[in-house]
Amino acid sequence: MTTEIYFLDENNIDFNIVDRAAKVIRNKGTVIFPTETVYGLGASALSGEAAGKIFTAKGRPGDNPLIAHVSSMNMLLYLIGSPLSDSAVKLIDKYWPGPLTLIFKKSRKVPYELTAGLDTVAVRMPDNKIALELISRSELPIAAPSANISGKPSPTLPEHVIADMNGKVDMILCGSKSRVGVESTILDLTGDVPVVLRPGGVTLEELKNVLGSVKVDRGIVGGSETPKAPGMKYTHYAPDADMVIVKGELENIKKKIQELVGDSIEKGLKAGVLASDETVEYYRNCRVISLGSRTNSKTIASNIFEKLREFDSMGVDIIFAEAFDESHMGMAVMNRMNKAAGFNIIEV
Ligand code: TXA
Ligand code: MG
Repeated sequence: MTTEIYFLDENNIDFNIVDRAAKVIRNKGTVIFPTETVYGLGASALSGEAAGKIFTAKGRPGDNPLIAHVSSMNMLLYLIGSPLSDSAVKLIDKYWPGPLTLIFKKSRKVPYELTAGLDTVAVRMPDNKIALELISRSELPIAAPSANISGKPSPTLPEHVIADMNGKVDMILCGSKSRVGVESTILDLTGDVPVVLRPGGVTLEELKNVLGSVKVDRGIVGGSETPKAPGMKYTHYAPDADMVIVKGELENIKKKIQELVGDSIEKGLKAGVLASDETVEYYRNCRVISLGSRTNSKTIASNIFEKLREFDSMGVDIIFAEAFDESHMGMAVMNRMNKAAGFNIIEV
């Protein structure tokens, strides 16, 4: 398949191109577009046939439901099966458009393929002008998973998307680097107490401020219980190299990682270290990448997927990653890192 690729400026959008892309969506084709979290691989959320093309392009398991992206409250109300709760109204007021996906009971109009047969539907309004224009000009909610090959780190830059998806979709709209850099927080509003199914761009602390009581699905914290968001059970975000996380006091982490680098070299392996600004100068005899300062979990989140992909292009065999604090955006960062490492964690 030939993929049409266009570069757009979010602050000076060429609407002719967005209209072309909207036509592709209406004709049940696939369009990759930028969002504030990661790039999305979009198709009509109201067509089972269109949604099916997303699963094929990504190589995604069919039992993993998709998020519907909307540009208006009318589109949301069309997709959901019951009136909005007070909690939903408060959250939408504060965080939409933004990196928060809400799970509702679905309406009958939602096709089976979108929700993989669940009776709930995931909806979010992305905070990116290109994305919002594409949705509103399509006059359809757009189903969109992250635009990576299934299992790879999510794409936050046009080159990631082109590397993974050129030839597999009808069109790619390139914008700038995704500002948030990790996917949206998924919050299930269908029970008595809201439950975080995936930590993401809106933090647990922020949700508690709005809602008071919020639970976290146990399946995303450890590795044993089955997570409630079907997608969270798959190995994910994995770089080509093996990855090991080292957790503990920072001084101990540094010493342990340098020791592990030494062991790897003896085995003839090329080692990489995923470090922070505070530690980047410390490591020897390996490739070192900093995710940013430990004092700024937002910056670390915005870099995590990009830096994991950078190790792939350096051809390292094994990555040793420093663990980060799990408060604020650190919760989403450590969730992605734990999964990228297949829960291969050493405590020191
Ligand atoms: O930031 C994001 O959310 C990005 C951008 C493109 O918007 N999208 C994204 O989609 O991360 P995806 O498909 O990579 O992840 C969607 C997650 C999966 O873990 C899926 O299982 C879960 O959402 N999900 C979707 N519908 C659900 C539902 N009805 N109940 C529980 N989990 C659901
Ligand atoms: Mg994904």
